[in-house]
Amino acid sequence: MKKITTADFAAMKESGDKISMVTAYDYSTAKLVDDSGINSILVGDSLGMVMLGYEDTLSVTMEDMIHHCSAVARGAKNALVVCDMPFMSYQTSVYDAVMNAGRIMKEARAGAVKLEGGSEFAEHIRAIVNASIPVCAHIGMTPQSVNAFGGFKVQGKTLEAAKKLLHDALAVEAAGAFAVVLECVPAALAEYISAALTIPTIGIGAGAGCDGQVLVYQDMLGMYSDFTPKFVRRFADVGSEMKRAFAEYDKAVKSGEFPSTEHCFKIDSSVMDELMASE
Ligand code: KIV
Repeated sequence: MKKITTADFAAMKESGDKISMVTAYDYSTAKLVDDSGINSILVGDSLGMVMLGYEDTLSVTMEDMIHHCSAVARGAKNALVVCDMPFMSYQTSVYDAVMNAGRIMKEARAGAVKLEGGSEFAEHIRAIVNASIPVCAHIGMTPQSVNAFGGFKVQGKTLEAAKKLLHDALAVEAAGAFAVVLECVPAALAEYISAALTIPTIGIGAGAGCDGQVLVYQDMLGMYSDFTPKFVRRFADVGSEMKRAFAEYDKAVKSGEFPSTEHCFKIDSSVMDELMASE
């Protein structure tokens, strides 16, 4: 299989083929996702919550993103790797946005960056795209704005809010974004926005009318229990299986049953005999 690019995203929008995206934050998981045929890996700043245990994404740094994204990039041979720009790495100025997007491409070897925000960040998106860096936008429930929103809430439910979301989607498209994530948006509105855009929409909690879907892998595999959003489907209960295996290992170690001879290295008995005789 060949490496997926933003041009493939455009072709899939055109042909109506759905785009699959899932998060990953390390080399081994990236390889598993890549082998499964998923189109794109998002190194989300959700890593602050699911990997680092913060209560939101605000404390995530550029160094965190670069550290995790470079591991993912080494594991992803085919999937397009999209890396989140963390809180305050682009909001401060257009210059910061371009510099930090550039660091992500150079140091973490991502294929694209993602940033949260609509028309108010159109200038930032345009400048990053002008520096030859593909940008995925992210509108709707944007977790970096959790304090401004007063919590993790569905967006776009009133006429005014729905109009603003449509306006934001068109603005990020006009600024050059190659795709836009719609998070926690009513399904009918997300479908309407998807039909209005020429770039693909990637939904999370935005219904089946989007051009693609993204999920956080710990949510879909039952590995993160602090909070499970309504839109998550659990595709496997890997968390329970991990707990079962850890408990079995604990028992085997404590009973002396592990390691058994098949897991041990051999030494010639004459060496041991000589060693003991020499002591
Ligand atoms: O950080 C993340 O994982 C995301 C997805 C929830 C879209 O932005």
